[in-house]
Amino acid sequence: MELKFLHGADYNPDQWLDRPDILQRDIELMKEAHMNCVSVGIFSWAKLEPQEGVYDFDWLEKVIKSLYENGISTVLATPSGAKPVWMSEKYEEIRRMSSSMVRDQTGGRHNHCYTSPYYREKVRQINEKLAQRFGSHPGVILWHLSNEYGGTCWCPLCQKAFQGWLQKKYGTLEELNHQWWTAFWSHTYTSWDQIHAPMANGERSTHGLTLDWKRFTTEQVRDFIREEIKAVRTYAPHLPVTANFMYYFTEYNYFKLKDDLDLISWDSYPQWKKGDNTEEACSTALWHDVMRSLKHQPFLLMESTPSCTNWTPVSRLKRPGMHLASSMQAVAHGADSVQYFQFRKSRGSSEKFHGAVVDHYGGTDTREFQDVKNLGQFLEDIREAQGSQIKAQVAMVLDVESFWAMEDAQGPRNCGLHYFETLKDHYRAFWSRGIPVDFVDEEGDLSGYRLVVAPMLYLLRAGFEAKLQSFVEQGGVLVGTYHTGLVNENDLCYLGGWPGAGLAQLFGLWHEATDGLWDGETNTLKLAEGKAYRLSELCALIHLKGAKALGVYGEDFYEGEPALTVNQFGKGRAYYLAAKAEPAFYGDFYQKLSQELGLARALKEIPYGVEACLREGAEGSYLFLQNFSGEEKRVELPQASLELRTGVPRKEVLLAGYDAAVLRIASK
Ligand code: GAL
Repeated sequence: MELKFLHGADYNPDQWLDRPDILQRDIELMKEAHMNCVSVGIFSWAKLEPQEGVYDFDWLEKVIKSLYENGISTVLATPSGAKPVWMSEKYEEIRRMSSSMVRDQTGGRHNHCYTSPYYREKVRQINEKLAQRFGSHPGVILWHLSNEYGGTCWCPLCQKAFQGWLQKKYGTLEELNHQWWTAFWSHTYTSWDQIHAPMANGERSTHGLTLDWKRFTTEQVRDFIREEIKAVRTYAPHLPVTANFMYYFTEYNYFKLKDDLDLISWDSYPQWKKGDNTEEACSTALWHDVMRSLKHQPFLLMESTPSCTNWTPVSRLKRPGMHLASSMQAVAHGADSVQYFQFRKSRGSSEKFHGAVVDHYGGTDTREFQDVKNLGQFLEDIREAQGSQIKAQVAMVLDVESFWAMEDAQGPRNCGLHYFETLKDHYRAFWSRGIPVDFVDEEGDLSGYRLVVAPMLYLLRAGFEAKLQSFVEQGGVLVGTYHTGLVNENDLCYLGGWPGAGLAQLFGLWHEATDGLWDGETNTLKLAEGKAYRLSELCALIHLKGAKALGVYGEDFYEGEPALTVNQFGKGRAYYLAAKAEPAFYGDFYQKLSQELGLARALKEIPYGVEACLREGAEGSYLFLQNFSGEEKRVELPQASLELRTGVPRKEVLLAGYDAAVLRIASK
């Protein structure tokens, strides 16, 4: 099979059907920009089914054909992301209700009810028809299901489905009342239809209810996705399916949606600025790694902007060079594509000022167009790296259900737990050293990793504690922190001491209480070896039960009490960090640990602001370097390596600000 990275964009020919000259020109421009695929039909329902039951696919057929004849593949969307006005007006039930049970009016997008039988039926019909007509077209390579599944509906249909879901889960109301601890404030339910979703003007204090509502929402969307897939598979069983995910999106649990999709794809919109962008690059790298880890295989970057976004307070243009660095960052972390929103700027409506490959101006002599074109050439030059994999020895635990539960709890710090910032503090220590990281949730497999980092693992579910125990017992190293093992999977606190479910033995300690600090308040971690670090936000007061203290608190009434510990458990060991530390701590701590464990690194000496990643393929290993510092950086290589873009062997690489390079460092 020909190796190639996909390079393309969301393409909306349906907005220009009265301008055949523009559609013709689009093809020329795509070819000039080295684009080889486009996503079509994402928001085209009104053109595909202009009246109920009246379908018009001829225009789409022409577009797909003309793209194909010009070497451009189609990623074909199902149109469920935006419903036509006629449908929305005629069938009220397909419009969502807000959390105060107010029905949406017609408008916007991404706002249909996932339960509505009518909407599901309409989606089934159009998906089947699209599959029948285009499923075997040689130009169509992938289904793009809907667009950015998101949001929650509180309508009576959803609430009824929720009650049924609960009945299946708990069997009896007695069991539900017990698991949700409803005796508290007399919230005991005496019939299933008394249970309503958590609402702005209703029940918000029963944590088990909120947790189950979020789980149900994910299940309902999964079910909707499965129906979409079933419909397209009726006539196109061979075509893979994807759905474009989003970052910092925790409304659903993506880990539960991954198995139904053949490929993970996602839309990445970092906010790059002038000067040093190292921190933004680190945040973005984390999400690329999350997406890659969902299926442990290359993913697709489905959307990114060629220049600016228009939904942010200001529309900052990418600085010269940043298009290369940011696009290559996705590839370096495992993407097999770089795709954009959008190919051509719409002439009207809400995204007319969003970045695009082709501006209203229409020419190729724009920086945006030239950046895209150069990137297309770059991707062709490095095509042999397509399909290569990233092998990580470190796993970080990111469990969305645990996150939901800790955010819903009152105390110990209602002014901010900063879970994702904390995750990033740990992650940064590996990222800046070129050590690849996978993300797993509590249903994930830990075998094969040397080190597992599980910050703030508040809620334990699915027998995860047993997995952690056996991982360490067999020689693995675990790093856990404060705010771990407080509640079980229904958000009921563990009795008999924290961390619960046997984790106290694993860490060799007992956690008595947590001190929540105000913003600006600090404590100190004093390491036995002499160094000290600032602590903030949450400080857990712990008692040793077998673990050894590596550091103690420096202040307050718990001065001298353990704050960093290690416990030998079986053939491995478990560290426990009792408080949130300043970033420098994580850098030093993981530097030492990764050396002790001999963790593989993409490169040993990495200048600040440069990111180094390794992808390993059948033909060779590829080193990706991206410079986010905004300044020129010199990177020394351990051995002469072939730079793929230039074909020149290099012993060192000079990267201009926001430059990127890919080197084959070993052939197989
Ligand atoms: C994405 C969405 C696109 C477009 C883009 C703008 O979230 O999928 O359709 O709206 O944002 O940045």
